[in-house]
Amino acid sequence: MNTTVAKSRVLSGMRPTGRLHLGHYHGVLKNWVKLQHEHDCFFFVADWHALTTHYDDPSIIPASVWEMVVDWLAAGVDPEKATLFIQSHVPEHAELHLLLSMITPLGWLERVPSFKDQQEKLKERDLATYGFFGYPLLQAADILIYRAAHVPVGEDQVAHVELTREVARRFNHIYGREPDFEERAEQAKKKMGKKNAKQFDRMRRAYQEQGDGEALLAARELLASQQNITVDDRERLLGYLEGSGRVVLVEPQPLLTKAAKMPGLDGQKMSKSYGNTISLREPPETLENMLKRMPTDTNRVRRTDPGDPARCPVWQFHEVYSDAEVQHWVQDGCRSAAIGCLECKAPVIEAMLLELKPMQERAAELDAKPEEVRRIIEAGSEQARSVAEETMREVRECMSLDFT
Ligand code: TRP
Ligand code: SF4
Repeated sequence: MNTTVAKSRVLSGMRPTGRLHLGHYHGVLKNWVKLQHEHDCFFFVADWHALTTHYDDPSIIPASVWEMVVDWLAAGVDPEKATLFIQSHVPEHAELHLLLSMITPLGWLERVPSFKDQQEKLKERDLATYGFFGYPLLQAADILIYRAAHVPVGEDQVAHVELTREVARRFNHIYGREPDFEERAEQAKKKMGKKNAKQFDRMRRAYQEQGDGEALLAARELLASQQNITVDDRERLLGYLEGSGRVVLVEPQPLLTKAAKMPGLDGQKMSKSYGNTISLREPPETLENMLKRMPTDTNRVRRTDPGDPARCPVWQFHEVYSDAEVQHWVQDGCRSAAIGCLECKAPVIEAMLLELKPMQERAAELDAKPEEVRRIIEAGSEQARSVAEETMREVRECMSLDFT
């Protein structure tokens, strides 16, 4: 535990609706493994989210949940570094979702692009449900309940983080006003010392009276650099500065993962809905067969026909797995018909097997010790709950639900 600088919190979730594949590994898990060293990470299994699309067929959820956790651990996510839990083990997510639903305008949810997109993409499912409509708000609750600073997401989820920010802002605007807010803010200001308090006043006036954006930024920096004030006081002064109430719910930032786009067996992005995936649990023989059957440049009918890697999905795998030397060998060999396609696929097969082998070994070990996996999740869920409970105490108080 680092005692000098608090690491900023990162939160992310995954829906347990099937097996994890190489797209998840390259697009998400490798990034999680990196982030867990740099941030205070919370990673969770979004089982309630799975129900928003799979409510009529929930039987796949339990097995997917445990297999998913094992795959996370097998991929290198470390329960000593990150907090791992299951959403439904922290029922406070549902409470916050309900309370936030009271202040969320319908139009904000109608505007989320994934609502219409997904309904169209998953035509075979009836998604005209309340749960599906509200799932971006459930996601907002997932994020806000941990006061996460960053949410690692793909392009398709940025709109959800934006909604989360709007909901937080609205909550703080409506409820952040304590009856004696101004007085408390004034007192907090004094705790910074005379000189700083004066400076704060000057910058606050410049922002509020002349809309001076530079003054706003400078004042925020001044607050961030204060060592002697409590978190609550900082929340108050931030709100006082911006003309809102206390900042109870923290606006998160999306952490865009540089599109590690993992191609699938057909050259499109690897995704279950395209049927082009290679599972993290793929037995080596199956993987080898899948690769051998994989289509190549359609102009290369005979072995002696020259080909073009740009027209071949195998080349995209080389871009992920091969070094410059092998890549040259492919480029030259393909265009001059010096190598055959099976020959060309061999290094990719080898690299994939090498990548999956240690993961599959670890997964097999963990599958044999389900109690240990359960223990990890239990401890993580407990840890997550204590953070969530802290936020809920404040939220209930703000919404006048702390009476007895
Ligand atoms: N909606 C996300 C997905 O479909 C999963 C998710 C749920 C999530 N809650 C979250 C991701 C909170 C990040 C933060 O992939
Ligand atoms: Fe594709 Fe390699 Fe065959 Fe060229 S040699 S078509 S890059 S598989």
